[in-house]
Order: sequence, then C-alpha cells, then structure tokens
Amino acid sequence: MIVFSNGEPVEFLTGSGALAYDGRGWIWEYPLRWMGILNPHEFTIVVKTLTLRPRKGNLRWYAPWRAVRLIPGGAVNAVGLTNPGIDWWIRTCYPRMRRMGLQMVVSVYPESVEEARAFAEKLRPLQIAAIELNASCPNVAHCETDTVSHVHSLAVALREAGHPLIVKVGYDQPYVAIAQAVEGVAEAIHAINTVPWRLVFPERRSPLARLGGGGVSGAPIRPFVREAVRRLREHTHLPIIAGGGIATLHDLEELWALGARAFSIGTLFLRAPWMPNRLVRAWRARYPERSQQPTLSAR
Ligand SMILES: Cc1cc2nc3c(=O)[nH]c(=O)nc-3n(C[C@H](O)[C@H](O)[C@H](O)COP(=O)(O)O)c2cc1C
Repeated sequence: MIVFSNGEPVEFLTGSGALAYDGRGWIWEYPLRWMGILNPHEFTIVVKTLTLRPRKGNLRWYAPWRAVRLIPGGAVNAVGLTNPGIDWWIRTCYPRMRRMGLQMVVSVYPESVEEARAFAEKLRPLQIAAIELNASCPNVAHCETDTVSHVHSLAVALREAGHPLIVKVGYDQPYVAIAQAVEGVAEAIHAINTVPWRLVFPERRSPLARLGGGGVSGAPIRPFVREAVRRLREHTHLPIIAGGGIATLHDLEELWALGARAFSIGTLFLRAPWMPNRLVRAWRARYPERSQQPTLSAR
C-alpha cells in the first residue's frame, strides 16, 4: 500500500481505460457489476485518460475491433486517446463517481505546459485521490526531443492543482531518468503503460499495423514490467505502482518482491472481468499485514 500526502491509501488500481470513464466499466461489464462479481469499490479507479479538448483517436463505438484486438494472453490496442475531454468528464462522470463513493485518480494527457496548467485549474476544486500524468501513450506521436525535461515540466504544472501526482511511464521511454527527475514532484511512479508491438514481437506483423502497430498489454509484457520495476527500485526512491499482465497471485508476489507497493490491473478486466476482485481478495487474505494502512509514525 502507498499512502499519499492527502491521506489517501492506494493498493489496487484499475489501469486507466479498464473501467471506462467513471468506474462503472464498459457496457458489457454492467451485468457483472449488477451481480456483484465485478466490484469497483475494491479498487482505486483510474479514469480513462482525458485530454483538454475532445479527441477523436481511433476508437469507434460501432467497430471497437478496429483499434483493440485480443491476442494470446493479452491485447493490442491503438485507441490513440479517443475521449470526450475533461470538461465532459467533470460535468458527467465526476458527480456520479462521488455519489457512488469511488476513490478516483484522474488520468490526463496534456500536450504542453499550458495545457497542464489548464488541467490543474480545472482539477483543483475536485475531491480526488490523485492525478495521473499519462506520459507514455504509445499510440500518439511524442514530438518532444527531451522527454525527461518535458515530463518534469508537465508534472510541475499539474502539481499546481494541489493533488498528489502519479507519473505513468512506458518501457520505450527513459523511465529511470524520468522517475529521478520527478522525485519531489510526483508521489508515485507507475510502470508501465502498454509496450509498442515492435518491441514485444519484433518478428511479427501487428494486426493493427495500419495504425502503427499499437501497444501490447497483458501476459506478453510481464518480463518488461519486471525489468522496469527492478530498475526503478534500484535507482529511485519513489513508491512504485506496478502494472502489466497482472493476472495471478504469483504476479503480485513477484512484483512485491521486486519493490512494487501498489498494483494496477488492466487487461484482466477485458479478458476475464470476474477475476480482478477475486485476485484482490486472495491477496488481502494471504497478506493482511501488507494491506494495512501504516500508522503515521511508520510512514
Ligand atoms: C484497450 C486499452 C485502452 C487503454 N487506455 C489507456 C489510457 O487511456 N490511458 C493509459 O494510461 N493507459 C491505457 N491503457 C493501458 C493500461 O492502463 C495498462 O497500463 C496497460 O494495459 C498494462 O497493464 P495490463 O497488462 O494489466 O493491461 C489501455 C489499455 C488497453 C488494453
């Protein structure tokens, strides 16, 4: 468990995108929620990434397979940040999530420092656990030549909102340098986002080749996550949220042993939506002391 400076504890987070924009999940998950098999209250809900203005991206509700495909053990997606924008979310989803009593983290993708300041202004009055800076979407072009200082500037601007900040990094980025740069600004580092297809399957053509190949999630990226968590633990002091292919108790145990103190679950909701809550309960039953909120003196 990680406890933020505002007292909010996070242990199991939904990967951004896993339970849509408001924690109720995607439409096909509703029946599972109604039956109590999928319970969003056992998670910190990380909202699907929002941009300042609505963004078309590649996802079309009438043909989702054009941008998301299942592959053995995982998925590949090239959603490209399709979303209706932060103002829509604040108007429509935020009040609903408050009413539902969900603990929320708002994932944002600012394209510039000015946009990050605008996000901070909009998010400042809200009661949220944290903001997550999505610094790592593999499906949009990143044109900054110096990623590290760019991410640092965005993080500093977002901190103006007064909420704890999580920085989500990708395997294809200088993630150790980014984590070192945002120490003292961010309160946690989240490793990792989806991994570009060409790094996971260099010899194979992606089913989403016409959209740049897409980002791989689920079991095929397990080794990438382990490497990232290990390197981050060696080189930074930031608490680590680990995510990528988590599907079993063994995954959680391994990531914990490597130094992660909170976990993010994404593709498992897509492939087996009845599993994530079972996993949380199994972990808490097996390791109750790890899920306990530390006392002030022990933090
Ligand atoms: C269809 C889909 C959409 C996603 N959308 C987002 C997103 O909007 N923002 C983000 O930061 N990550 C997004 N992700 C990445 C996940 O949040 C997660 O970091 C990644 O998939 C690795 O974890 P997993 O293997 O448990 O899914 C998405 C993943 C998938 C499969």
